[in-house]
Amino acid sequence: MLFPDYRPRRMRQSDALRRMIQETTLTVNDLIQPFFVVQGKGVREPIPSMEGQYHLSIDELTKSAKEVYDLGIPAIILFGLPEKKDPLGTQAYAKNGIVQQAIKAVKNKVPELVVITDVCLCQYTDHGHCGIVSGKQIDNDSTLDLLAQMALSHAKAGADMVAPSDMMDGRVTEIRGFLDENECSHIPIMSYSAKYCSAFYGPFREAAHSAPQFGDRRTYQMDPANSIEAIREATMDVEEGADIIMVKPALPYLDIIYRIRQEIDLPVAAYNVSGEYAMIKAADKLGWIDGNRVMMETLISIKRAGADLILTYFAMDAAKVLRNRT
Ligand code: PBG
Repeated sequence: MLFPDYRPRRMRQSDALRRMIQETTLTVNDLIQPFFVVQGKGVREPIPSMEGQYHLSIDELTKSAKEVYDLGIPAIILFGLPEKKDPLGTQAYAKNGIVQQAIKAVKNKVPELVVITDVCLCQYTDHGHCGIVSGKQIDNDSTLDLLAQMALSHAKAGADMVAPSDMMDGRVTEIRGFLDENECSHIPIMSYSAKYCSAFYGPFREAAHSAPQFGDRRTYQMDPANSIEAIREATMDVEEGADIIMVKPALPYLDIIYRIRQEIDLPVAAYNVSGEYAMIKAADKLGWIDGNRVMMETLISIKRAGADLILTYFAMDAAKVLRNRT
């Protein structure tokens, strides 16, 4: 098809024609809104590096959860900030831990909203690592049992799905087995399969008070230079029983999303992380870009690359834009 026989501009003449040939669509069904939950009452404390995001006490969280539900967004993911931290992150799997209480309150107020929980120790350990520390090492195998306990305690509190983000080897097998042994075979696992060691998590670590107190996460999170390894990680998680495979971050890893979509026959999620959000919000605030348009372009690019689901701090903002379009 060559010019002048073919003219691509013919189909771009009007909004209706453009809509008719649109290849990728973004809907509210694709979005998952993350929330940070803290102890207390009436707390809605802005997170400075993540404009529009807050530390919410449980009563405030349930209000926001209702808003998410009313916007038609199907799911939220919860991150907890416990009052005390210790070397084994015991608040992570405490029956009455912050996330366990939050799940109950949200399910009570908005039962149909899907509540996903992040399963990782870093917000709960005093050293800030995602696993148990032994000397200067992060001990893989002794961490697995704690992750399984954490996942089960979320499920027992009423969570609809668990999402391990620790990057310990073998955690999906361990969590799947433990859930199954304890009457939770119906709970899906969304695995952070290809989670890179990324500087784009900076604002989140400030928000979640989860920066490592020594060293970094390079011995467990992936090297940004690798892509074949991401396929190996995802394949392992499929074999271990994951239900959804996640790639994180999203924008600097669109190629990974694309490759995983080609090679894996499970739903693929992408996490549009805190740093990606903060950059757009900051540039918008300075008047350097049109934040809403850049947001929508970003989200469609993640879907175009192959993601079925997007975890994003923009979920509520994007749902509002989508609602006003129709
Ligand atoms: C916990 C976790 C992190 C994020 C999600 N789960 C931080 C990290 O691994 O350091 C990052 C999310 C974001 O940046 O928005 N392990």
